[in-house]
Amino acid sequence: MARTKIKEVLQREDSGYEVNIKGWVRSFRNNQFIALNDGSCMNNLQVVVELGSADDELLRRISVGASLSVNGVVVESQGKGQRVEVKASAVEVLGECDNEVYPLQLKNRPSLEHLREIAHLRFRTNTFGAVFRVRHALAYAIHKFFNDKGFVYLHTPIVTASDAEGAGEMFRVTTLPFDNAPRNDDGSVDFKEDFFGRSTNLTVSGQLEAELGAMAFSEVYTFGPTFRAENSNTPRHLAEFWMIEPEVAFNDITDNMDLAEEFIQYLIRYVLDNNREDLEFLAQRLADEEKQKPQNERSEMGLIEKLEFVLNNKFERITYTEAIDILLDSPVYKKKKFQYDVKWGIDMQSEHERYLVEKHFKKPVIVTNYPKDIKAFYMRQNDDGKTVAAMDILAPGIGEIVGGSQREERLDKLTQRMEEMHIPTEEMYWYLDTRRFGTVPHAGFGLGFERMVLFVTGMTNIRDVIPFPRTPKNADF
Ligand code: 4AD
Ligand code: MG
Repeated sequence: MARTKIKEVLQREDSGYEVNIKGWVRSFRNNQFIALNDGSCMNNLQVVVELGSADDELLRRISVGASLSVNGVVVESQGKGQRVEVKASAVEVLGECDNEVYPLQLKNRPSLEHLREIAHLRFRTNTFGAVFRVRHALAYAIHKFFNDKGFVYLHTPIVTASDAEGAGEMFRVTTLPFDNAPRNDDGSVDFKEDFFGRSTNLTVSGQLEAELGAMAFSEVYTFGPTFRAENSNTPRHLAEFWMIEPEVAFNDITDNMDLAEEFIQYLIRYVLDNNREDLEFLAQRLADEEKQKPQNERSEMGLIEKLEFVLNNKFERITYTEAIDILLDSPVYKKKKFQYDVKWGIDMQSEHERYLVEKHFKKPVIVTNYPKDIKAFYMRQNDDGKTVAAMDILAPGIGEIVGGSQREERLDKLTQRMEEMHIPTEEMYWYLDTRRFGTVPHAGFGLGFERMVLFVTGMTNIRDVIPFPRTPKNADF
């Protein structure tokens, strides 16, 4: 008999039919009731083994974590808690699970931190089941959003010679022996001997290549892994994370903001419409976690309320200069309660961003026109000579979720800025060619995928929303 997914059995309205189901045991009570889960949905299907019908040897092998194949009839349930259950006619143990050593027991619920150390097993928990089903749904919705708008999905390279952000936070890619690398006369490493005949690294962003695509297709997006060797051990940073980067010819900074806002709201709506069960579970998880916190640190809204609120309210739009004025005028600043100083020109710290979003506006905020000295070389220079047409979107509980800008399309201004910032213009000829041959105003942004998953699931640590987190000193499996 072909396998039926548990989700399908639970969704069907009828009963009285025969099925084969397969999955892993979540609990086994009274030598009779098995809760079986196959990951197709949050809920388990109850399997009832008729007392006396199974031999002791079989019953002994059924334990939490074991995998089973069950044949039986779907019947209306006698008990509370489920509409239907499976009356088993045959139970086969596919793989046993020794409960003396299996770490996922109901009695001893492992913490999220502990689960990170056994990340190969955490998919089997309700929390991570929900998180990764939502992550999947978001990935699908991202492609659907751009496909429906006629964007071309462009695969940008993972190994590259450029530092797109110019921040020098790159992982080197090399096949040279590091204890005996070939040297130039001056003692420096001779990368002409390296695999690609030059120094290469893992990409920090696909933006520059996406710009080339936009100069032909008008509208493109990337969605792929990006890598940053920044030594930031925070609940918001990963060394390997996924980013979505749309790039649109003929768009200015306002079009860019409109697109980003529409995109984020679309993703939230998609998950509210399609992952209700998972979200309700995650909302309850968050509510339980919040109860542990002191009253003044608890959030005012539950997870689903928060998502609906973001969906139904326009994002606030302010300039960087206005943001600094709000901070300078805040009671927190006046009582000297910010850890980091506030003045025009600073790169806002997370405490500043959180004040703006969580205390002052209480909704997502788009900050524009940042000082040029704290932003990347490719951003369009404003007429004031001090600021660039940048836009960051700050989200409650997350901080920066999107970074983007209108791009500098004027060749002379761009090369001048690159020279000021010591970015090699000859090596970047392929990028500058877009400004030489039919340049147009254009704009784009990057949405950090894991930060979006964090926001939607209400999880608090970014390591808990990516299957295999890569962070400083951590890449075991
Ligand atoms: O602001 P960033 O550095 O912007 C860029 O890379 C541009 N090239 C994007 C563009 O305009 N096409 O990164 C974009 C977003 C951030 O807003 C944040 O959400 C996420 O990527 N991000 C990280 N997420 C997890 N861990 C990290 N270390 C991250 N660094 C950035
Ligand atoms: Mg940024």
